[in-house]
Amino acid sequence: MNEAPPLLSVRNLRTHFVGEEETVCAVDGLSIDIRRGETLALVGESGSGKSVASLSIMRLLDPASGRVAADEIVFEGEDLLAKSEAEMRAIRGNEIAMIFQEPMTSLNPVYTVGEQIAEAVRLHQDASPKVALRRAAEMLDLVGIPEAAKRVHVFPHEMSGGMRQRVMIAMALCCNPKLLIADEPTTALDVTIQAQILELMRTLQQQIGMSILFITHDLGVVAEIADRVVVMYAGRAVEDAPVEAIFEQPRMPYTQGLLRSVPRVDRFADEQEPLYAIPGSIPSPSRLPKGCSFHPRCPHAAEICRRSVPELERVAQDHHVRCVRWREIEAPREVPA
Ligand SMILES: Nc1ncnc2c1ncn2[C@@H]1O[C@H](COP(=O)(O)OP(=O)(O)O)[C@@H](O)[C@H]1O
Ligand SMILES: [Mg+2]
Repeated sequence: MNEAPPLLSVRNLRTHFVGEEETVCAVDGLSIDIRRGETLALVGESGSGKSVASLSIMRLLDPASGRVAADEIVFEGEDLLAKSEAEMRAIRGNEIAMIFQEPMTSLNPVYTVGEQIAEAVRLHQDASPKVALRRAAEMLDLVGIPEAAKRVHVFPHEMSGGMRQRVMIAMALCCNPKLLIADEPTTALDVTIQAQILELMRTLQQQIGMSILFITHDLGVVAEIADRVVVMYAGRAVEDAPVEAIFEQPRMPYTQGLLRSVPRVDRFADEQEPLYAIPGSIPSPSRLPKGCSFHPRCPHAAEICRRSVPELERVAQDHHVRCVRWREIEAPREVPA
């Protein structure tokens, strides 16, 4: 095969938090590849290590407690592990942009949104204040904010949550990043606004040609936006596959459980089967069960699952699963729309 190298390639990422009493492993051996122009979704319940993984890649964890190691973090052919702090700062917000769940905490309340976007433009490009403000208005227009030329002068608190998230996207995209890392960018929004923001991200991705690492706990959102999916559980990737395979042939019982807990969009509320909830809760990194971390919650767990951590095993082209019993477990045939 003669495939272009991925835009971002991460091999065996490990992140530990050093505390006074103990050191815990929040990300344990994560490997991901993000290809050019594609959206990779990192999905898993809250606490599975998604945010820590992305912050580790971007070197944004507090070095006093977070220890990051990896065999390789290569972006555009360059070794990010060898970059200085100053070089990383130049990459962040320029080549790689980020947006987070709560725009209010990322926007400064005392500056207008136009000033803040213009500031982001000027940080990375040599532009006069006037040119930068014009660019800010163009960006607001691009992300679908009406009357953008006027809206550059409003303050974040004068906008709705959906509008603020659009501002965050505008800020992230003003430097034409090659990769956008979006960590739960729609989680705080109601479903209608969420759908609009996802649609906007898809459109902009096609226009700009960037790749997206989309972090979410919500498989409904994954279906809307992802090309490929990595499912994380307790700090480890437990399944990765193209999005169709995740929905049609999920192999990991954890993925199957997550799928059963998503409401079906092709049914009216009164036709919904009662929603499934995976029993129990995700273990904290300091109390990981022996063997497969998911076994205490797994309906298919057997003695062997308690013994050792399964390897990621190839089940098909581009599809891997961390479950020793995947061959014996029937994949659910129902396909959520
Ligand atoms: N600064 C930190 N110090 C210690 N533990 C942390 C820190 N940040 C996150 N963790 C732990 O790492 C695990 C993964 O967290 P996180 O990546 O935020 O999960 P997710 O984004 O998937 O919801 C959690 O158990 C969390 O408590
Ligand atoms: Mg998170």
